[in-house]
Amino acid sequence: MDHKDLIVVLDFGSQYSQLIARRVRELGVYSELHPFNISIEDLRALRPSGIILSGGPSSVYARNAPHPSPEIYALGVPVLGICYGLQVIAHQLGGKVDSSARHEYGPAKLIVERPADILRGFRPGAAHAAQVWMSHGDALTKLPKGFSTLAHSSNSRFCVIRDPVRKIFGVQFHPEVAHTPRGINVLKNFIFTICRCHPGWDAGSFIEASIARIRKTVGGGTVLCAVSGGVDSTVLAVLLQRAVGARLHCIHIDNGLMRKDESSQLVRLYRERFKFNFHHIDAGNVFLKKLKGISEPEQKRKIIGETFIRIFEKEARAIGGAGFLAQGTLYPDVIESVSYRGPSHTIKTHHNVGGLPRNMKFELIEPFRELFKDEVRRVGIALDIEPFILKRHPFPGPGLAVRIIGDITKEKLELLRSADAIFNEEIRSAGLYETVWQAFAVLLPVQTVGVMGDQRTYENVIALRAVTSVDGMTADWAQFTPTFLSKVSGRIVNEVRGVNRVVYDISSKPPSTIEWE
Ligand code: XMP
Repeated sequence: MDHKDLIVVLDFGSQYSQLIARRVRELGVYSELHPFNISIEDLRALRPSGIILSGGPSSVYARNAPHPSPEIYALGVPVLGICYGLQVIAHQLGGKVDSSARHEYGPAKLIVERPADILRGFRPGAAHAAQVWMSHGDALTKLPKGFSTLAHSSNSRFCVIRDPVRKIFGVQFHPEVAHTPRGINVLKNFIFTICRCHPGWDAGSFIEASIARIRKTVGGGTVLCAVSGGVDSTVLAVLLQRAVGARLHCIHIDNGLMRKDESSQLVRLYRERFKFNFHHIDAGNVFLKKLKGISEPEQKRKIIGETFIRIFEKEARAIGGAGFLAQGTLYPDVIESVSYRGPSHTIKTHHNVGGLPRNMKFELIEPFRELFKDEVRRVGIALDIEPFILKRHPFPGPGLAVRIIGDITKEKLELLRSADAIFNEEIRSAGLYETVWQAFAVLLPVQTVGVMGDQRTYENVIALRAVTSVDGMTADWAQFTPTFLSKVSGRIVNEVRGVNRVVYDISSKPPSTIEWE
């Protein structure tokens, strides 16, 4: 992305790595996450104004521990190491990290000795100790040459360190998390005072830079964009339309796994409101046939992803000359799908990332790969897209297939659609739609006994799931009132044939995920 100022975050595998980049963007400076082992040439080519080394689960001494190229310290670009980042700096520059040190997890008090550089504006002394969040096993026991201490905690002698000549800094705590209330000041000091960045990044500048980049990549080519009706693909398509105009073809593949009436609403939206070059493909039967008898969640995702791209390729051939495929992949999709950057773990294969067939014939365009959902919504607002579209709940690419536990049939889809529609209808009419991140019904593969009108029944269970979340990475179950829940449950059991029991999912993420599969 071509921005005047860029802060590169090198990812050492912390769950917070992207949060650091996001905090920097919130301060108005563009930031991207890159793998810890990015080559020095590639790093230099990005022309960063500053480099932040993230935390990570490893010990610097461990075999295969992630180490960045030592040349990063000689680039003349300020470096800030966070937690593992601090330790790796010390390790590479001749300090000492002790793995037998006392562990420190959770809140701690930071006692500032010298309120300089990244601690500018902090007050020194124990009386003004600041709360910080720690999460480390190893600890720094000897400073590298050229470094001095700015602050300590009761367990970390070297909690904040600096080499003012080479402009290398390290903090043992996590300034990016909400549990470090003044952490944002540390980041501000680093970005604005040390790296001399100027705030200039916002949704408007993101749009401008993305349009320029898309035009450069695409040249005179044609772009295909799969539109699902979701926020991400809709914002993406509008952005692409601005970049390449009529050379954008939007394709909606109805996989037969959408919610009730959704596909027909989409057709109206895309044809009439956005006036896209719009291709609607009704492929429900193809998907159903391929999914017949398949119960395993990852297999479902792979089949859906593959079928999707094959249909896409066919349509692309029919359109002719399309070399590019745009996708609204977001950062959480990436981190939970493939360890493509740092060493974090694979949780689910989201079909628009890990499930793509390898022999795909398109070049991918993914302008939102670094962003979180709320950041995409802000881009949408700047593109004048209506709130009712931007506030729409996320919906997974594999659709209802991952909400029917077990194999998928037309009958199960119909049943689930009806239950889901009732739940969402009630949520909207109670004014709760915007208070939750997602709300949906799940069809369980069990029958239970019930009694209806003096008759014994042996029918299906519907689970209701509603969560609150900021970015989908973590979530809590929505605390609806018992009155509301009984109304929904009563309607589902009475109105949906084949359901005699409704349960409400009260699990948070983690340890559960939002979707059941
Ligand atoms: P989980 O279930 O992993 O979901 O907590 C996080 C967010 O991602 C959505 N999701 C998916 N989106 N393809 C998608 O495009 C998928 O396979 C997929 N699985 C989950 C989910 O709805 C939630 O918003």
